[in-house]
Amino acid sequence: MYKIVKKQELTTNIYLMEVEAKRVAKTCEPGQFVIVRMDSEGERIPLTICDYNREKGTITIVFQTVGAGTKMMAQLEEGEYFHDFVGPLGRPSELVEQPLEEVKSKKILFVAGGVGAAPVYPQVKWLHEHGIAADVIVGSKTKDLLILEKEMESVAGNLYVTTDDGSYGRSGMVTQTIKDLVEEGKKYDLCIAIGPMIMMKFVCLLTKELEIPTVVSLNPIMVDGTGMCGACRVTVGGKVKFACVDGPEFDGHEVNFDEAMRRQQIYKTAEGRAMLALEE
Ligand code: FES
Repeated sequence: MYKIVKKQELTTNIYLMEVEAKRVAKTCEPGQFVIVRMDSEGERIPLTICDYNREKGTITIVFQTVGAGTKMMAQLEEGEYFHDFVGPLGRPSELVEQPLEEVKSKKILFVAGGVGAAPVYPQVKWLHEHGIAADVIVGSKTKDLLILEKEMESVAGNLYVTTDDGSYGRSGMVTQTIKDLVEEGKKYDLCIAIGPMIMMKFVCLLTKELEIPTVVSLNPIMVDGTGMCGACRVTVGGKVKFACVDGPEFDGHEVNFDEAMRRQQIYKTAEGRAMLALEE
């Protein structure tokens, strides 16, 4: 059983939880994720690791209440427990795998959309701890939905906040800010975009045009998280990949986003889930 030691409502319907999970905290790296369950029959919910504390043996997760499972999760309080907290799953971010000198030579731009700020944060923090200052764009629909701004500010080289409705920071989509920065003369060797699938799709279309290699982190439907069930199947560069074992990070210019979004939509209904199960 995995105890919730801290719970915080970051903004409407977005929660942060710090959970005691010593084994996961000991070995996890930025970019990896966990699958949590509230009880033995419960829905398996994949969540990217937002932060970890090796000394305390805790993992921080951030989630938005989008369906029945996450709504139930939001009811859990400090002192209560998760039944399962499986991880670390997936491959660590390629930044932490590469020789440090190589990473240091790159000018990196992170683009986080909505709750995507949570998985972006540990990567920017890791770079900051290794003396690398990355530029970060954080976008949200409105000011009220913006999360982790202060935390991001403390680790980013430059932080650019943008809201779709212009209620805070710059106005417009994250793609507009990317365009603005490049027009202002900024040059980037790598872009890492994490957020809603539709945002990652449009960031990739733009960065392809701008010739900036781009990595995305996919968070499709997952069931077992071990590459066995096929639920998280995505097509990358024309090849079938499983986000849980081959990802979650992929070359954004190679991902078939339209297919991934279609599968996500179908999975929302019981009928669709049965159909996908047959397909696997
Ligand atoms: Fe089952 Fe990835 S979640 S194969």
